[in-house]
Amino acid sequence: MFAPGRVNLIGEHTDYNEGFVLPLATEMGITMKAVLRSDDLIRIKAVDLGEEVSLSLSELKPGDGKQWWNYPAGVFWAFLEDGYQVKGADLVFYGDIPIGSGLSSSAALEVATAAAISKLNRLEVEALKLALLSQKAENRYVGVQCGIMDQFASALAITGHAIFIDCRSLDHEHIPLNLSGQVLAIIDSRVKRSLSSTEYNRRREECREALTLINRKMGQKKSSLRDVSCIEIESARSFLTDVLYRRSRFVVEENQRVIETVKAFRAGDLSKVGQLMIDSHTGLRDLYEVSCRELDLLAETAWATPGVWGARMTGAGFGGCVIALVEEAGLPELKHRILEQAAKALIYLPNFYVTQPGAGCQAKEIY
Ligand code: GLA
Repeated sequence: MFAPGRVNLIGEHTDYNEGFVLPLATEMGITMKAVLRSDDLIRIKAVDLGEEVSLSLSELKPGDGKQWWNYPAGVFWAFLEDGYQVKGADLVFYGDIPIGSGLSSSAALEVATAAAISKLNRLEVEALKLALLSQKAENRYVGVQCGIMDQFASALAITGHAIFIDCRSLDHEHIPLNLSGQVLAIIDSRVKRSLSSTEYNRRREECREALTLINRKMGQKKSSLRDVSCIEIESARSFLTDVLYRRSRFVVEENQRVIETVKAFRAGDLSKVGQLMIDSHTGLRDLYEVSCRELDLLAETAWATPGVWGARMTGAGFGGCVIALVEEAGLPELKHRILEQAAKALIYLPNFYVTQPGAGCQAKEIY
């Protein structure tokens, strides 16, 4: 079983506002081998960490902590919670997604586990449901309130395409990126996303508060910021704190940018795509306030490099990675400038990964 990580092209912090996102699967991912057992034991071995745990299916309970084994254990729990008949299994996995860098190693682990459970127990669960069970494991078992984007991309991506997802209806469309001569550079700041879960939850809360106040002012009952317009936010501005004004503005503008990015890819207009990526980053920096000094420096260095169409922080923020769309020929110069700037101003030298849009979860290496 192989499940990839994800990198988001654009549409940040919009999934939990029932909005639009445009992620793609990385070529990096998690490979899992799985064997069915006849009892209710699950034995999970993380080869990269040199660790192994044994748990009993009947004793799984949510809220056990955020240790690595709770991600796959949570997926078993989610299957059982949904009423599937599931037996124990031996799972062994390894991978090449850098952990804690915002490239969704945890979603990849969940989706690989979900696909393995489905396959081993002959359940034929469809890919979208695998993503939903994985998200349920993360939300309810591990206790991280993520949206659906990461698991969706890991389960449903196809090579050469990004996925345009409507996070309310879960309708989605594979958008061909036609990147010939271009690459996606992933620049890992190596700043671990320490603040991210508290701040992430706070942003979710702020979006809810902003929506309540806008609804009250406008005398309406919209169910998410996805349905709100910039005109409505402006009309309700005196009702909102400055923070809530900026958060809601960002979400509404970011949704619009996703739609425009899809159009620009369809028209082959990479310079428009690049500008939208830059605008997304500045919004995340100034309005949503989830960037950090390191991500800003990496993005700004990329913007100033010839051959770079655009760059932005990707994922939840507070560390992690910047993604840059760059001409293949411009890659050495980009690397050179990033390393030069980082050596001057940052503690860590960033890591570089180059990816093409990869494939979603695939059933291979299972026995
Ligand atoms: C994390 C979450 C996603 C999404 C992004 C921000 O990666 O897991 O659901 O909210 O942050 O866009």
